[in-house]
Amino acid sequence: PQPGWTTQADVVIIGSGIAGLTAALRLREHVGTVLVVTKDVLNAGSTQWAQGGIAAALGPEDTPEEHEVDTLVAGAGACDRDAVRVLVTEGPDAVHELIALGTNFDLDAAGELSLTREGGHHRDRIAHAGGDATGAEIQRALIAAIEAAPDIEVIQHALAVDLLLDEDGGVAGVTLHVIGEGVRDGVGAVHCRAVVLASGGLGQVFSQTTNPAVSTGDGLAIALRAGATLRDLEFVQFHPTVMYLGPDSRGQQPLISEAVRGEGAFLVDHEGDRLMPGVHPLADLAPRDVVAKAIMKRMLETGQPHMWLDARHLGAAFWEKRFPTILATARSHGLDPVTQLIPVAPACHYASGGVRTDLDGRTDLPGLYATGEVACSGVHGANRLASNSLLEGLVFSRRIAAVLPGELRPWSDPVADHRTAGLVTGAVRRELQETMTSRVGVLRSADGLAEATALLDKLGGHAAEQVDQDSWETTNLLTIGAALADAAALREETRGSHWRDDFPERDDERWAGHFDVSMADGVT
Ligand code: SIN
Repeated sequence: PQPGWTTQADVVIIGSGIAGLTAALRLREHVGTVLVVTKDVLNAGSTQWAQGGIAAALGPEDTPEEHEVDTLVAGAGACDRDAVRVLVTEGPDAVHELIALGTNFDLDAAGELSLTREGGHHRDRIAHAGGDATGAEIQRALIAAIEAAPDIEVIQHALAVDLLLDEDGGVAGVTLHVIGEGVRDGVGAVHCRAVVLASGGLGQVFSQTTNPAVSTGDGLAIALRAGATLRDLEFVQFHPTVMYLGPDSRGQQPLISEAVRGEGAFLVDHEGDRLMPGVHPLADLAPRDVVAKAIMKRMLETGQPHMWLDARHLGAAFWEKRFPTILATARSHGLDPVTQLIPVAPACHYASGGVRTDLDGRTDLPGLYATGEVACSGVHGANRLASNSLLEGLVFSRRIAAVLPGELRPWSDPVADHRTAGLVTGAVRRELQETMTSRVGVLRSADGLAEATALLDKLGGHAAEQVDQDSWETTNLLTIGAALADAAALREETRGSHWRDDFPERDDERWAGHFDVSMADGVT
């Protein structure tokens, strides 16, 4: 599209969750101008919704080495060890920086950080805030800091459409579609010397997800179209305990944090029999993929659409203090977890893969950096360890901010951009999501994946009649859904969150490596 307006900034940051705002706050003192663009309002992304907390070796008995081992085990042999080492060693300091910024984490009676446990952790190492409103508190503190920093410009309601590239294939800017922000309305171009992608995940590729409506994989699609490489797309994490609202419920679904199991809740089937003892030594606190599989298996065996979480014994006072958000949400759906079992089923939660980066957030495009859920730094492997995601955004944004100022590229002229010709209509979004959930969801097989690919291909033939946010988002969902299905079809094994009905075992001899996706080479 032809831009109706132009502006410029040294660095454009796409996204306003923990990753984007941390990068902005850290970069502002070291580069001339920083512009944050965000598709909705500043707190509309996934950070705001994070419940359980942020993991780091913060307790007196804990060590980064133990956090490292838990992360590697959860990642099922697919983590990058150096990236994990960076995450766990820089994590505690990064969390202390959040505290210094004004984030109010919950404290224990002695005034120390109150730490809890979640699936896959062998220690209490999850810091939380407001009981179960950790993300909201972090987001609040970051937004307050951004608002107190007049040198950071923000454009809200700005969908990043595509990167502008110079003749060497480096980043020269970004096109935006802005709605209702005064003079900068409609399609515009921001010329810049670097872009930090911090645009979050892809949950809306599936019909049920814990992710908010904005998580449409835009950053992944933008990076792919610009020539960057994506990695590990098949490793999509399905959270085991998402409140089941009935067969017709679509879009963002209420999360029941793993911290509820961390505090003693347990899963039962319709007969009241517990699911997890005997499946894994950590029982209900096994890594997330193990719990999600156990729930799905029992759902398939019994023909039930969900299992149950029993947290009644936590009692009203504890529920109100420790999990006020979940309690209020459950009650708003007519269910009281203090007296009733909670119906739960797995739903899409987190993209462990993303835009491939090095340890400093560099992608393989000059001038393009990625951080947070959109990135694949290698810390999550085949299955992210609970509460490592907020930490990843924090740690790797700090690292980007440490290197980027020293490698800012000279201003360059963008060459013409024809990449978003051929948008698909938003009318196919629901069928796309149903296809992904039924054939590329928790349990996958060669036949289902082949059907998905054929169906998605057909949906790609439904051209958009008008160019609008819905068609851009749906095009991005289709691009990423198709690449994800291709990668899932190629990986003929079960590993972490990638579960193949037809290849039920992990096969380290054949499949220890990674699948990369690029426009030039497809999935390799
Ligand atoms: C949860 O609270 O269960 C989610 C935590 C996470 O996804 O890391």
